[in-house]
Amino acid sequence: MGTIRVELKERSYDIHVDRGILKDVGRLVRDLGLKGRAAVITNPTVGGLYGGAVADSLASAGLSPFFITVPDGEEYKSIEEASKIYDALISERFERSSPIIALGGGVIGDMAGFVAATYLRGVPYIQVPTTLLSQVDSSVGGKTAVNHPKGKNLIGAFYQPRAVFIDPDVLKTLPEREVKAGLAEVVKYGVIWDPDFFYYLEENASKLIKPGPEIERAIEASCRIKAEVVGLDEKEEGLRSILNFGHTFGHAIEALAGYGAYRHGEAVAIGMCMAARLSGRLGLCRECGPRLEGLLKALGIPFSPPAMPPADFLEAMRLDKKVVGKRIRFVLAIELGKVVLQEVQEEDILGFLESYTRA
Ligand SMILES: NC(=O)c1ccc[n+]([C@@H]2O[C@H](COP(=O)([O-])OP(=O)(O)OC[C@H]3O[C@@H](n4cnc5c(N)ncnc54)[C@H](O)[C@@H]3O)[C@@H](O)[C@H]2O)c1
Repeated sequence: MGTIRVELKERSYDIHVDRGILKDVGRLVRDLGLKGRAAVITNPTVGGLYGGAVADSLASAGLSPFFITVPDGEEYKSIEEASKIYDALISERFERSSPIIALGGGVIGDMAGFVAATYLRGVPYIQVPTTLLSQVDSSVGGKTAVNHPKGKNLIGAFYQPRAVFIDPDVLKTLPEREVKAGLAEVVKYGVIWDPDFFYYLEENASKLIKPGPEIERAIEASCRIKAEVVGLDEKEEGLRSILNFGHTFGHAIEALAGYGAYRHGEAVAIGMCMAARLSGRLGLCRECGPRLEGLLKALGIPFSPPAMPPADFLEAMRLDKKVVGKRIRFVLAIELGKVVLQEVQEEDILGFLESYTRA
């Protein structure tokens, strides 16, 4: 399988995608010049399934693993849990050269990355993502964060890992709902960047839910696209915001439905369809909405929005970060594989929401 280089101004790194790479993590960490003790941050679910393999691999490469286990769930991606991790690192006297290894989904990756960015002003860290969403999205690009009671990801830092090790074999134990939530982000890359990838997903939709060469290829292609976008705009000063396609509607859905009702990827799937339909209404891309809905349907990913009053929907979007005066900024599709950032008047959004939620 493949290695993808994330080319950044200050610190570039590789993403390795390989079946069975979990058992090689120790050797690969050692090859990065890291040695001694390694803090493995995980949760009971993932630690129970894969902690042993990672511990054995580190030990056989001469590293000495120390496990820090955080309870499973988005509600534990908090400054309080991060603080407990600092406590453990301090009492174990972890030093600036000791690596942190994030073993888990996006919750563990984001929080372990944040701790790595801040403990002793920054220690080396490695991502070993174990959900499809974290393999194709959150482990790549260096956004780290914890949540605040007032909102998701409000406390964070841009901090790049030293490497990302992706083992598609771990998806065998991932619940189907989580696989589908990750696939929504995979589809996003086709819409925003690469029409051929979108056609590939259409042609192979029935094979992407189960482990196999198709999903492995999709992981690699997704990482390649995200790496390219992040390489062009690491700190989201412009281009990188195209990765938020579907997210303005999606965040509003998550907030209105109550966090936890939808998986992030599920809300993004609905949000992408809404953004694509809005693109059609504004005369940008008429085929994008129907094509996207067709693909999501083939993948078994729901894309209809929940019943929500349009005014509430608009208000929830106003609270999101992309509001400029009486206009809201969206990523809209011009054609498959090409998007644009565009501000839309609130009255036009309201009109769209009224027709869309009635349809
Ligand atoms: N940093 C970024 O750029 C970025 C991008 C997108 C999302 N995120 C963040 O990612 C988080 C969501 O990540 P997620 O969807 O991976 O959720 P998650 O980390 O909560 O994982 C989902 C569930 O799957 C379990 N799990 C993980 N791997 C498993 C495996 N191989 N087998 C069985 N069970 C497994 C977990 O224990 C958890 O219960 C959110 O906090 C979101 O803000 C960050």
